[in-house]
Amino acid sequence: MAETPSAIPLEKIPQHVAMIMDGNGRWALQRGLPRLSGHKAGTENLRRVIRSTVEFGVKYLTIYAFSTENWGRPPEEVKGLMLILQDVIDHELNELNREGVQLRHIGRLEGLEPRIQKKVLKAIELTKNNDRLILNVAFNYGGRDEIVCAIQKIINDGIPAVDVTDELVGKYLFTANVPDPDLIIRTSGELRVSNFLIWQAAYSEWYITPTFWPDFDKEEYRHALESFAQRDRRFGKVSSGELLESNA
Ligand code: FPP
Repeated sequence: MAETPSAIPLEKIPQHVAMIMDGNGRWALQRGLPRLSGHKAGTENLRRVIRSTVEFGVKYLTIYAFSTENWGRPPEEVKGLMLILQDVIDHELNELNREGVQLRHIGRLEGLEPRIQKKVLKAIELTKNNDRLILNVAFNYGGRDEIVCAIQKIINDGIPAVDVTDELVGKYLFTANVPDPDLIIRTSGELRVSNFLIWQAAYSEWYITPTFWPDFDKEEYRHALESFAQRDRRFGKVSSGELLESNA
């Protein structure tokens, strides 16, 4: 019997899922391997997760691949992560393009080597008309840095203080025109935000699992979506059920 992609009703599928792909290092350590082997296994898993995301009908996926703080890691690890980004573009871009994935970048592109910037821009250009899945790659990304960058641009544009609204700030973030994440998944069990989408996550639901990122498989992804489908999102208000009762 063919497997149904998901038993979750389509209206309960989050529009935007964001992922903190944590635990690559510990996955490698457990196996007596260098940390970079963990990142390579994590990259393999990312390929599977992207495919599952398309199958589940999620429209936006944001992945945290390299933070502004990750520059503080050992130089060989930083170099390895830079090479992984280039490798993914060199070897996966055509397949992603065929699958209808639109690649976007969030973060400070200008902080990356010119050669990498060029590859990223080429990938964005090639896939810009795809609409099956919008994949935001957070690379050299930090939530605070994003807000600082937005404030600088708002000031440079001469926007009067009274015109600075929630909506306007959103338009100046790297994620302009992307809906806020409905669900954020963090692997490897840490209970923190780690400077990821700190503005956009105001009302996101969280799913945190002890599973290390390379082992986060489709079944667990489905479980995260099922958990999300059962949440009562109130956005600081009361639930729609309570509202009906009080009006009765
Ligand atoms: C966190 O695990 C993971 C990262 C800092 C890198 C994530 C990168 C990938 C999964 C590769 C895909 C990359 C691209 C560019 C598409 P950790 O190293 O902090 O794990 P630990 O907490 O167990 O040490």
